[in-house]
Amino acid sequence: MSETKPKELLAQASRDMAGAFSARLCAIGVELGIFQDLDRNGRSTSEQIATRIGLNERYLREWLHGIVLSGYVEFDKTTREAWLSAQQAQVLVDEGGRFAQYGAFKLLNSALLPYDKLLAAFRGGGGIGFEDYPPALWEALDHTGCSRYRHFLINDWLPHVPSLVKKLSHGASFADFGCGTGRSTVELAKRFPSSNFVGYDAFLPNIDKADENARSAGAGGNITFKHWNIGEGSPGKYDVVACFDLIHDLPDPELGLRVIQESMNQGGLFLLMDIEAEDDPVDNDGPFGVFKLGISLHFCMTTSMWQGGQGLGTVGLPETVLRELSQKAGFSKVSKLDIHHPLNSLYLIE
Ligand SMILES: C[S@@+](CC[C@H](N)C(=O)[O-])C[C@H]1O[C@@H](n2cnc3c(N)ncnc32)[C@H](O)[C@@H]1O
Repeated sequence: MSETKPKELLAQASRDMAGAFSARLCAIGVELGIFQDLDRNGRSTSEQIATRIGLNERYLREWLHGIVLSGYVEFDKTTREAWLSAQQAQVLVDEGGRFAQYGAFKLLNSALLPYDKLLAAFRGGGGIGFEDYPPALWEALDHTGCSRYRHFLINDWLPHVPSLVKKLSHGASFADFGCGTGRSTVELAKRFPSSNFVGYDAFLPNIDKADENARSAGAGGNITFKHWNIGEGSPGKYDVVACFDLIHDLPDPELGLRVIQESMNQGGLFLLMDIEAEDDPVDNDGPFGVFKLGISLHFCMTTSMWQGGQGLGTVGLPETVLRELSQKAGFSKVSKLDIHHPLNSLYLIE
């Protein structure tokens, strides 16, 4: 890596600090429903927004000026009205959309909140427990999952796995391990009504939310959710098993893969989505690299360490490591699918 001159570093420091505050302002806008209100009502002054959603106008006005400067909201200096452009709405409000990032802002902000616990873990080891994060973190994972599975999985990724589509179209049993709030399970259950779906997760509130997501999507008939920890061993045998964003979080990823292998019927398929990563963590260039290492420290590695685990981390499962662990777990074939996503990798494992 080349050395950076002090002037360039200074410019970077100011961009980074502005970026950190921009992300915080966006998280506030998402959390308090300000973006949704603006999207629903169009051009509005701070007084109008504050009255409509019951916020203190002085705080709202200061937030508004900051978010305008950060480029996420349009503003008329004469009338003092603010509004969202169609593009800004796609990023900040559009549920499940291709460009939606409201969940990511909420995730970033809520993962940063148990700061004292993180510092304590730096000093004394251990980690941060699921319950130590605010509910907003789990809501945020639900939001990010909504876009990833409703848009990317169904439209962009499934066409890369014709064998899996064929199996599920003809009617198969499917298990989603570490399903979170069930967004992936629900989208697949809707897409393949002849198959039966089970979603498993170790965090009980996720199971309740997954049931609610299935009900509100009208996907109740072929789908159930169960509270289960992968450390308990295989919960049954399935024709298709999937893990979305789970393996690198596990206390023992090799054990997790072995449990999955034991949960597959003869000729079964395993769809694995994990994080796109380079072999050496410092080769994960660019803003996505910083994001991945940041979220690792603030959630993925740290919750695995809390479970007494290895703390593989967000970028701890590059293709080479996955191939090695899959072989040890008894799988014979790992195919990386050509999906070209900056954050996610997808594999078909047999
Ligand atoms: C990053 S979230 C991904 C959730 C969901 N698959 C998605 O993509 O939105 C990881 C999930 O794994 C679950 N998890 C973590 N450790 C687990 C374990 N030992 N057994 C089962 N689930 C676990 C967590 O509760 C969490 O819901």
